[in-house]
Amino acid sequence: MLPKLIKYLLDETPQSQETEISGWVRTKRNMKNLVFIEVSDGSCFSGIQCTFDRSTGLGAQTEAALSAVSTGASVKIKGRLTPSPAGGQKVEIFADSLVIIGTAPAEKTEGKTRELDIEAYPLQKKRHSLEFLREIAHLRPRTNTFGAVARLRSRMSFAIHRYFQERDFYYLHTPVITAGDCEGAGAMFKVTTLEPLSDIDYAKDFFGKKTFLTVSGQLEAETYATALSRVYTFGPTFRAENSNTARHLAEFWMVEPEVAFASLEDDMVLAEDFLKNIFSSVLKECADELAFFDAHVEKGIIENLQQVANAKFAHITYTDAVKELEKASSANFEFKPHWGCDLQSEHEKFLTEKVAGGPVIVTDYPKEIKAFYMKLNDDEKTVRAMDVLVPRLGEIIGGSQREDNLEKLIRRIKELDMKTEEYYWYLDLRRYGSVPHSGFGLGFERLIQYVSGMANIRDVIPYPRAVGQAEF
Ligand code: 4AD
Ligand code: MG
Repeated sequence: MLPKLIKYLLDETPQSQETEISGWVRTKRNMKNLVFIEVSDGSCFSGIQCTFDRSTGLGAQTEAALSAVSTGASVKIKGRLTPSPAGGQKVEIFADSLVIIGTAPAEKTEGKTRELDIEAYPLQKKRHSLEFLREIAHLRPRTNTFGAVARLRSRMSFAIHRYFQERDFYYLHTPVITAGDCEGAGAMFKVTTLEPLSDIDYAKDFFGKKTFLTVSGQLEAETYATALSRVYTFGPTFRAENSNTARHLAEFWMVEPEVAFASLEDDMVLAEDFLKNIFSSVLKECADELAFFDAHVEKGIIENLQQVANAKFAHITYTDAVKELEKASSANFEFKPHWGCDLQSEHEKFLTEKVAGGPVIVTDYPKEIKAFYMKLNDDEKTVRAMDVLVPRLGEIIGGSQREDNLEKLIRRIKELDMKTEEYYWYLDLRRYGSVPHSGFGLGFERLIQYVSGMANIRDVIPYPRAVGQAEF
């Protein structure tokens, strides 16, 4: 039988019942005859305190284990669940038996051979820098911070599925390996079984053509949205951009709803409602984790999430946004804004923090800086695009109404020197039963960054992949 998790014990009314827990030692303290061991099993934010009283005659085995046990060791403890006399916890375990399952030496120990030498357990009680913890990403989930991130990430995934499932969206699995470039940005990882990489005859390659890791499931999602009406994807996507920033990964998870018979306005309503719903869920379901992030990572995030969950998002067109940026001479932008420029993160920051004072949806971008599939506006210069920008991070959602007019779409594909033959299946959606449709992509890690206040995107995914980084 699986052991009872600590999260359940913490909610129990202690009636001196016999209990057994399994977990990892966080801390050990001695005070005269008493030994206090805090044990965590990761099931919730808190661990549980186990108190041993040596004067009660604990037995030789437990005595020996008490002397030997150290931070990081895995243990099994038996005792009685009792009301805790100490502050900060409701219950504790008045323990009478301790078994060490696996030790975690506090000092380097020598084994029979060099290979069996064990370095001191790196996660001693002191605070470690996030940079250091990134180097031991396989052990960092045992820390408060990364345990909290992991639980938050899991609950947020579930909240996202629940949001769409409750609203008649079908979950769609789109391919990871693809022959098409959805965003037209060219930053794709090639997939091949041939070597060497130069002068490849792709006809002889595994798939008989050139293939890549997908940058987005959108185009395939459109094929299912124009059959099932409402679908969403939630899976890994890949970008070979050489951007070494705190908000870019080479492998990240994207959530992409796609809706038939939906305008850009419908798309914006969906995006805003979706984000607010996730914020409300997290506030309810991850209260302990958020309290920790608020206290130790980014002050005020709880209040901020509460506010954002209840306020209307600001809207501004790209053209008006650029006017605001041009007016803001005091802002001293590194990149001078002008109509037609891609918004830099300093511009996005200014728009959210100074102009809107919160999340803002920017719409109708110039077609030149957006992907080929976006619906052309009547001015023939801008497209029906929308980006949701938030303070601290800038863009967390990018979406659009899709071009549903066959002629216009073909024209745009040609203007961009892309091959219409490669998009025959995508164009078929415009040939047969074409409908206005819209969707967006949410960068899941950016959303976690926003909710947790974690500054670096590499700290909200278990094993970050970025330029020069594919360890573990
Ligand atoms: O704006 P993007 O490139 O949009 C698309 O891929 C569309 N196909 C989405 C759609 O309409 N279905 O990416 C969407 C979001 C961004 O807003 C950002 O949050 C995130 O994905 N994102 C990244 N996150 C981490 N690392 C990167 N390198 C990212 N690139 C984009
Ligand atoms: Mg974008």
